[in-house]
Amino acid sequence: MSISQIARSIHASPTLALNEKAAILREKGDPVIHLGGGEPKSRAPIDAILAVAGHLNSGEIRYSPPDGIPALKKAIIYYTEEFYNRQVAPENVIASGGAKQALMVALQTILNPQEEVIFPSPYWVSYPDMVRLCQGIPVPVLSEDGTFYPRIKDIEQRISSYTKAVIINSPNNPSGAMYSEEFLSDIVQFCEKKDLYLIMDDIYHRLIFDNKKRLNCYDYAKDLSENSKLIVINSVSKQYAMTGFRIGWAVANKKLIEVMTNIQGHQTSGTSVLMQKAAVGAINGVQSGVESLRITLENNRNVMLDHLNSFTGVKTFKPDGTFYTFADFSVYAKDSNKLSNFLIDKVQVLTVPGVEFGLDGFLRLSYCGSIKEITEGIERMKWALDPDSPNELYIGDRKLVRDWT
Ligand SMILES: Cc1ncc(COP(=O)(O)O)c(C=O)c1O
Repeated sequence: MSISQIARSIHASPTLALNEKAAILREKGDPVIHLGGGEPKSRAPIDAILAVAGHLNSGEIRYSPPDGIPALKKAIIYYTEEFYNRQVAPENVIASGGAKQALMVALQTILNPQEEVIFPSPYWVSYPDMVRLCQGIPVPVLSEDGTFYPRIKDIEQRISSYTKAVIINSPNNPSGAMYSEEFLSDIVQFCEKKDLYLIMDDIYHRLIFDNKKRLNCYDYAKDLSENSKLIVINSVSKQYAMTGFRIGWAVANKKLIEVMTNIQGHQTSGTSVLMQKAAVGAINGVQSGVESLRITLENNRNVMLDHLNSFTGVKTFKPDGTFYTFADFSVYAKDSNKLSNFLIDKVQVLTVPGVEFGLDGFLRLSYCGSIKEITEGIERMKWALDPDSPNELYIGDRKLVRDWT
């Protein structure tokens, strides 16, 4: 079979593949604990459900404008005022099929073949493949000081005449690190000076801990005119626990949004009007669900870290936000794929190998599940990896016996 060169360079999304694996194992009756997940367990906000149900009952579910229905654009304008203190026009906004599509269409709009996109490492799994799909070159940049906090001087060193854009995701998937105000201010001004696009993937910006202050890229921008190359991405997926609704958006200059709309119009047309209505309900509705999710996640983070810290040799990092932590398991295995598969096979705990995020030897662990899943999951991992563990482990009435050293 002949498939294109680009298609051959793309890998399946490892996190989606893990979800599938978890579903298959559960179907078989295996007592799976999914610490690899990327979605909160809470219910979608009632305002979202009522909004979608009302429209569904009308029985008239039609095409929607390619850039989003007016009510959703209005809600996004309100969101931008509320959380970014910035007033934008409907022409500055596009609603897409999740933050994923908003990012993808933005990259398709700005990239020529061979142009480079820089992003700090560890990075969200999809960035490299999204850039490759646009025939661009992904340029991950690891902080030379060995932390999860990027430094402007490391980014500066990777700039070339092909550099077109920088993607910043803070708080970050997979590390949970929220980058400093100084870094954010520097990168905004650096991109302005170098005339680069700066894509802010802000989808976790309301899920931050320890009373940290939410940062707003516009506060540091000198150019807020229609020439601005800042693109801010958001989504209802994580903050409102609405991953399956597939609504995200981008806010950018009008010309860029116009071209993004043309592309999206040919790709998918406007995203489902039902889901857009739900997003309007969530954004305009009662916000207490976001805060209770944030509090739950902060507590879950503390529980997960407590358990991980009792794990001999594992190096942990305290996340500032999101629902992930990225821990260094290289003392047990340098090959994170192998380690992740071992944990699935031996104790049915799903984790995401760090290599998928650009750092081998690490595992990404999610704490968006229940406390029971977190504590039992880590205990099972410890049993599987610690050579001093007892020979047997009971999972319910199922007895596991160590047949490895
Ligand atoms: C950093 C980051 N950006 C974008 C997305 C995609 O979000 P959405 O579900 O809105 O497409 C994810 C999902 O995991 C993510 O972690």
